[in-house]
Amino acid sequence: MTYQNITKYPPISERIPRMLHGADYNPEQWQHYPEVLAEDIRLMKLAKCNVMSVGIFSWVSLEPEEGVFTFEWLDRILDSFAENGIYAFLATPSGARPAWMSQKYPEVLRVEANRVRNLHGFRHNHCATSPVYREKVRIMNTKLAERYANHPAVIGWHISNEFGGDCHCDYCQEAFRAWVQDKYGTLDKLNHAWWTTFWSHTITDWSQVESPAPHGETQVHAMNLDWRRFVTDQTADFIKHEIVPLKAANPAIPVTTNLMEFFEGLNYWKFADLLDVISWDSYPTWHDREGDDSRQAAKVAMMHDIIRSIKGGKPWMLMESTPSLTNWQDVSKLKRPGMHLLSSLQAVAHGSDTVQYFQWRKSRGSSEKLHGAVVDHVGHEHTRVFGDVTHVGNALEKLEEVIGTSVPAEAAVIFDWENRWGINDSQGPRNKGVKYEETAEAHYLALWEQGVPVDVIHMDADFSKYKLLVAPMLYMVRSGVGERIQKFVENGGIFVATYWSGIVDEHDLCFLGGFPGPLRKTLGIWSEEIDGLHDHDRNHILPVEGNELDLQGEYEAVELCDLIHTEGAEVLAVYGSDFYAGRPALTVNRLGQGKAYYIASRNIGLFHSHFYRSLIDDAGISKALNVKLPHGVNTAIRTDGVHDYIFILNFTHEPQKIMLDGRTYADMLENHVIEDGSIQLDAYAVKVLKTERNK
Ligand code: GLA
Ligand code: ZN
Repeated sequence: MTYQNITKYPPISERIPRMLHGADYNPEQWQHYPEVLAEDIRLMKLAKCNVMSVGIFSWVSLEPEEGVFTFEWLDRILDSFAENGIYAFLATPSGARPAWMSQKYPEVLRVEANRVRNLHGFRHNHCATSPVYREKVRIMNTKLAERYANHPAVIGWHISNEFGGDCHCDYCQEAFRAWVQDKYGTLDKLNHAWWTTFWSHTITDWSQVESPAPHGETQVHAMNLDWRRFVTDQTADFIKHEIVPLKAANPAIPVTTNLMEFFEGLNYWKFADLLDVISWDSYPTWHDREGDDSRQAAKVAMMHDIIRSIKGGKPWMLMESTPSLTNWQDVSKLKRPGMHLLSSLQAVAHGSDTVQYFQWRKSRGSSEKLHGAVVDHVGHEHTRVFGDVTHVGNALEKLEEVIGTSVPAEAAVIFDWENRWGINDSQGPRNKGVKYEETAEAHYLALWEQGVPVDVIHMDADFSKYKLLVAPMLYMVRSGVGERIQKFVENGGIFVATYWSGIVDEHDLCFLGGFPGPLRKTLGIWSEEIDGLHDHDRNHILPVEGNELDLQGEYEAVELCDLIHTEGAEVLAVYGSDFYAGRPALTVNRLGQGKAYYIASRNIGLFHSHFYRSLIDDAGISKALNVKLPHGVNTAIRTDGVHDYIFILNFTHEPQKIMLDGRTYADMLENHVIEDGSIQLDAYAVKVLKTERNK
């Protein structure tokens, strides 16, 4: 049985079968500076940039008055791109509206949860339901598409910008009511699902359905969940509405929209079928810990893996990143020498076929005038940052064989948006931070540090292509999921679950008959109670002698300790203290050909490292490189099935030496064959090694 899903995908645009390198470009801000626009083209070529995202916030420059369209400046920009071998992801401008529109049609402005309509200003604050806004977007997108969908420079559409947020206007309330009615059909079903007899919240007429509000309803958890689902669906519907005229003009041009890091407000998996390629904006706070960027690196890697997994492994786009610093984080720290290439190629290592920035040139005024850019206010190329960017451009030219290759993941971590919404809303054992996100990251990190390629999936994804499935805090188990996990284990899979799993169904109704609900048989345990620990509380877990994972010593347990009974599972560790000392803290259940582990407590220190190291060996899960890695050095892999491209990334501020595994490797960035079976990495350095794939 082969678990690996290896494909060689086509490039993002057949028109430019190269790694894409570029930035958000705002020429509309420089219309009175023709010399700047001419200089931009020279500098783009110098920096080895071949793609720009244009028009993102250009609405007022494209339609200065209602019905008056001024595309000429954009014609000139795109024509000059075409003449100079530069391509464009052309944006639809719906992320920010002109003032005339808000003034004439206030309904386009968003109403907040407190039911107050926003004034004009800022960006990303429109209503996704407003018929006027939809019509204005339709007209604009139609005109853009008619004019540019076959332009030689245009290789993709960038739909709007960073969708997010919700609107509570009357149009949105109506749409929510219709959505709820469509979902439940009858008031009885709605009231049961929302458990509304609680506090007398029973709904007796559909018109009583209202979105959550700080001064109104906040306590009906299932309704909060449905509101979030509705907001995702409504946003997706708006995106669909944006795409229709674009595809009508030329169906071959791919569409994307730029997603945000771990953004809680939208279930990004619902965008999978709408978009041709997934892209996201990555702004890690590099260098926020003395000398060791590995925590930060693992977190970004996890987001890269989410993005890749949304479309089942297809290469994606790093749509934005900063070439130096941001101007909105608490501290705007510069990237240390090496970090720009390292962080850019980290994205490629996890499946990106592009490296793009915000922004090409710093704006002269307003809120992003001090945000990092390829071209600074000084205006020339003789800057450290411009050199770093050019370096990335040169490196990407050497990695063209990597385009379209896959990340061969045999392990998957479930990180599910609806589960996240439910758990964070749940009012349970630790309201001062139930820490779903951090827990998922901690499990991911243990796999990442060993160089295990990982997909990050939702709970309805196909599990059958993996050997190892990790589901941290699977509080919600939607219908059918428990059965599919059971089958996965019976067929030989290794499943890892933790405390606070199998608590509610998709309506946030608690499972009756014992936790972890539909996972109980697979895990062979019953969870009777869960203990919330204060920050200063500590327990610890003691591995049982001779346990199959070879765990030894003791591990610290904090914050959440689940009190379980075994129902067929074997005990691998027990609690060390408190009234539940001696009771099971870690178990394994054998079912069919596979195994299911239950981690009952939140363990810190080296627990995850040791636990997953044993598990990976046991399950024979392949790593990017089967060697021992120094702390902070990470490996990642892409492959076309014939050649492996192995990325070795040093996230520490020290030089590192890595012994290879005896295979013959070519250093792709330095163009030479590695002779002595080892490599040296400078501080924050990266190498890409090519070798034959082991069959
Ligand atoms: C986001 C936006 C960009 C810009 C950057 C700044 O990613 O999409 O328009 O504001 O942040 O970091
Ligand atoms: Zn609205």
